[in-house]
Amino acid sequence: MKFFKKVMAFAKPYQHFAFLNILFNILYALFSTLAFLSFIPMLQVLFQQQEPIFEKPSMESSGGLKEYFSDYANFFINQRVEEKGQISALITICIMVIVLFFLKNLFGYLAKYFIASLQNGMLRDIRYKIYEKITELPISFFTEKRKGDFISRITSDVQVIQTSFLKMLEMFVKEPLTIIFTLAGMILISWKLTIFVFVFLPISGGIISAIGKKLKSDSTKAQEESAHFLSLVEETLSSLKIIKGFNAEERFRKSFGDSVDRLNRILNSLLHRQQLASPMSEFLGVVVITVILWFGGRMVLIDETLDAATFIGFLTLTYNILTPAKNISKASYSIREGNASAERILEIIETETNIRDEADAIDKKSFENGITIENISFAYEEEKVLKNFSMQVKKGQSVALVGQSGSGKSTIANLVTRFYDVQEGAIKVDGENIKNITKKSLRNLMGLVTQDSILFNDTVRNNVALSDENASEEKIIEALKIANAWEFVSELPQGLDTNIGDAGGKLSGGQKQRLSIARAVLKDSPIMILDEATSALDTESEKLVQTALENMTKNKTSIVIAHRLSTIKNADNIVVMHRGEIVEQGKHEELLQKGGTYRKLVEMQSFD
Ligand SMILES: Nc1ncnc2c1ncn2[C@@H]1O[C@H](COP(=O)(O)OP(=O)(O)OP(=O)(O)O)[C@@H](O)[C@H]1O
Ligand SMILES: [Mg+2]
Repeated sequence: MKFFKKVMAFAKPYQHFAFLNILFNILYALFSTLAFLSFIPMLQVLFQQQEPIFEKPSMESSGGLKEYFSDYANFFINQRVEEKGQISALITICIMVIVLFFLKNLFGYLAKYFIASLQNGMLRDIRYKIYEKITELPISFFTEKRKGDFISRITSDVQVIQTSFLKMLEMFVKEPLTIIFTLAGMILISWKLTIFVFVFLPISGGIISAIGKKLKSDSTKAQEESAHFLSLVEETLSSLKIIKGFNAEERFRKSFGDSVDRLNRILNSLLHRQQLASPMSEFLGVVVITVILWFGGRMVLIDETLDAATFIGFLTLTYNILTPAKNISKASYSIREGNASAERILEIIETETNIRDEADAIDKKSFENGITIENISFAYEEEKVLKNFSMQVKKGQSVALVGQSGSGKSTIANLVTRFYDVQEGAIKVDGENIKNITKKSLRNLMGLVTQDSILFNDTVRNNVALSDENASEEKIIEALKIANAWEFVSELPQGLDTNIGDAGGKLSGGQKQRLSIARAVLKDSPIMILDEATSALDTESEKLVQTALENMTKNKTSIVIAHRLSTIKNADNIVVMHRGEIVEQGKHEELLQKGGTYRKLVEMQSFD
């Protein structure tokens, strides 16, 4: 229950609905008892069993609450019979029964009506919170997790919470109230029979909840398995080209087939047990009723301490108490299920963001002097990816990072933008450690082009104007022109408003890249961080991208990660990296003359 209780906090803003729910549930429980009790006088008229009472009874003359009620009903009906005849009395009682049942159901509906707003409000708030957390958590949190798992948490786990919350309210409010009121009615009729019923109820309840326990463990397994299969679908959709290109369909089908097979088995066992619950409980219910019939029948026939009509009324009340008793035992496993889901949800919500803004972090508005990287060391996992790395970028300068694949170039971009925190050393902007600058203002100073173009399934306009929703058309076109992208965008069927497909699937590699460059251009930040992927492009589009890069870094401070060395010939400083360390640095000409690693790299590239 621990996790479930925590999630309960999400219901707080909607407590007034909970109060209304409780209020109407009280009325519901009251009227449901009254409705069943109202059968008794009707049956008495039909059986014509009782001595008619013609004088209005009083509490004293009847000698007890129960007697008073039954005398009064007797008097009321007989008066009716006297005045208008038996059939009319019967009709009156029928109408009363209808009215009582109508009210019972009306209040039942109202109770549900108000709780719906609470349930759905909670659902929305939890989902929003998870999403907010997903956008807030550091990138490292997601590298090992499966996306489908998050999708399943934000959809089905939240749904489970919603249902179990409702079940919990029923368990703690509605059903106990119904039981209390019904019980009062039953005791009023015969305490002896009532005690008898209560010997039998827990036995059947115990059997039902035993089934419930097994249900719970199966449903956790089902939840985990469906998270797995969602991940597979997600992964397959985003890698269709590779799957088809490598003829790996069979393999993926098999792995998906295995997953749905497992889910199938779990769901079968779950459903079989669920289906067993209902006939089981009906059967047990009938057993209980029959035993009461036997015991109570003796009271009617032999002891004559009970009249037949009242006994039938008692039986209906017993039925009225069986359903809530069943529901309570079912609710207890629904809540256990909710607890498991709550745990999965809290796992996301309660994860502390380790890349946080300090309370006294400064809001850096402008960029004045430069960026310094001082003796940093960094490891994603165990192995150090950067070792004692130092570098300086003065304002207005362009620094290029080159080096073989895996040498740690993109890692520098990840650290400067604070997607990860360095473990040793410091990165400073204008002499201020970036850990003391708010993430928002730090990232506001930087325009970022990542190695793999990340685009959204949206229009060109919205992809480019990500940093500024209200960017004017001129501004967007201007950015596209600088990024060398306007030419192809203007030829798209709907121009700026053309949808570029999932992850920009309708565009070529170079076009995608130029769009992501345009996005950084539009942001117009003083620092540009470019992780270019020109190696993936043909000469023609490489030239286009190259010009785009040159255009955008003009008058800016930039860190350019280059694969094509021709791109960075004019850089103010070229830093050559090897396995997370700097092996040499200087201007293009200097490095060429030195005849070291850089020269080798250049020679290799001119060769192809
Ligand atoms: N998220 C991560 N978790 C663990 N290790 C990582 C992660 N990202 C990168 N690495 C490792 O860190 C090292 C440096 O990676 P990085 O991406 O910085 O290389 P790079 O110089 O940009 O290479 P390339 O030229 O191929 O883009 C690599 O050995 C890589 O395996
Ligand atoms: Mg890289």
